[in-house]
Amino acid sequence: MSELEQLTELCAKLGAERSAAATMAAQLQKRATQFAHERGVTREEAMRYLLEVLVKGRQGESPDNITAPRPAPSMREKLLTRFNATFGCSPAVITRAPGRIEFIGNHTDYNGGTVMGAAIDRGVWVGLTPNENGERRFCSEQHADVVTLSAGEVTQQTGAAAWVNYPLGVLAALPEFGLRAPAGFDFLVISDLPTGAGLSSSAAIELASALAFLETTDQHPSREIVVKIGLHAENDFVGLPCGILDQGVSGFGQEDHLVFIDCRGPKFSTVPMPAGAEFWIFNTHTRHALVDGLYAARHRECMEAARMLGVKQLVEISPAQLETDAGKLPLVEARRARHIVGEIARVDATVAALQAGNLKTVGELLTASHRSSQTLFENSTPELDFLVDALISIPGVYGARLTGGGFGGAVMAMADPQFGESEATTIAKGYTEKFGSAPDILRTQTGDGAAVV
Ligand code: GLA
Repeated sequence: MSELEQLTELCAKLGAERSAAATMAAQLQKRATQFAHERGVTREEAMRYLLEVLVKGRQGESPDNITAPRPAPSMREKLLTRFNATFGCSPAVITRAPGRIEFIGNHTDYNGGTVMGAAIDRGVWVGLTPNENGERRFCSEQHADVVTLSAGEVTQQTGAAAWVNYPLGVLAALPEFGLRAPAGFDFLVISDLPTGAGLSSSAAIELASALAFLETTDQHPSREIVVKIGLHAENDFVGLPCGILDQGVSGFGQEDHLVFIDCRGPKFSTVPMPAGAEFWIFNTHTRHALVDGLYAARHRECMEAARMLGVKQLVEISPAQLETDAGKLPLVEARRARHIVGEIARVDATVAALQAGNLKTVGELLTASHRSSQTLFENSTPELDFLVDALISIPGVYGARLTGGGFGGAVMAMADPQFGESEATTIAKGYTEKFGSAPDILRTQTGDGAAVV
């Protein structure tokens, strides 16, 4: 049942005539959206409040003793409170870096191809203050313990402290770019990004850390360098052979735009997002136990395919050339190469369709990308496939695909505003019936890239 139908039924139960009930329900929907906007609360909180007022009113009681919802403290307020509670002072520098959606271009980045992503309006916040004692103290809202290291200590952390490898990897990367790392400091990270949703919290923490370290040492390299520092930390310290997508989008994101990356430069640019398209993320919370190993295996298979085809990277092979030469490759490598070469062509077609404002074609390309992941790159899962199939069967959904590395994680859908909470809930219900657990649903907006705030 849609939200409107449920509300109509409720209004009828409260004594309204059928046609009046439908009008009341529509007004409630409109008012909840307005109220949420005016008060800075979620629409769900606004609706709960309005319904309570309505029910009490109908029962002849005064609504005065119902407390209106208040907005949650902003991320900045949260950071300041937590920083003070942990370190007894305020941060001298605050930075923020967004998470990202991989829009299209799956595993194309480390093959030298093109890729598109969008920075979202959620991310990671870092607060930092230099200290006199030369210790580097790291704290995260998700871990109770403060990790204390001496300024010279840049060794990989394990166990509960493993998260420190992201800022530590950035500290280790700075000299590689001719930049100084700060000595002693107190560091706190908080986040409003769901973890494990394929929204790249790791790149966000790398970029927010890099900007904080650079700001506190008064060094201001170009945005490209900041992005490359993040990638260096991930590749050489954390140890994942990923490409530039995550750091590039977190660094170059812009509200209402997609980031386009030509990974061979790398060159970064933005493409406006046509009006009328919204992003939905369905996070399955599933993650293949061997996900890092599988990512590295795909990386290896692509490099092997390129080597056998006599090129440095798969981007150098055109679709036509691959058709002629695929026979030279073992079956697995041929499938991986077909995915990458086809996906790069899809990215180019997507840019053209976006520029023409043709969202229908963009959606078809997104879904085609997922099919290619499913059959050729083999980085999808039954959970992700189920969500894509369910989503694209609903009017209003332009297209859907896995977002990020795959092997679990999340599906992204691009939909028009017709697709709303009740449609999303229906999908989630179907998923729960089949897999026994509920996916998280996130309706997300595009946002700006990493910055000192
Ligand atoms: C992960 C990596 C990216 C990219 C995607 C797949 O998110 O970090 O560099 O390779 O997977 O496209």
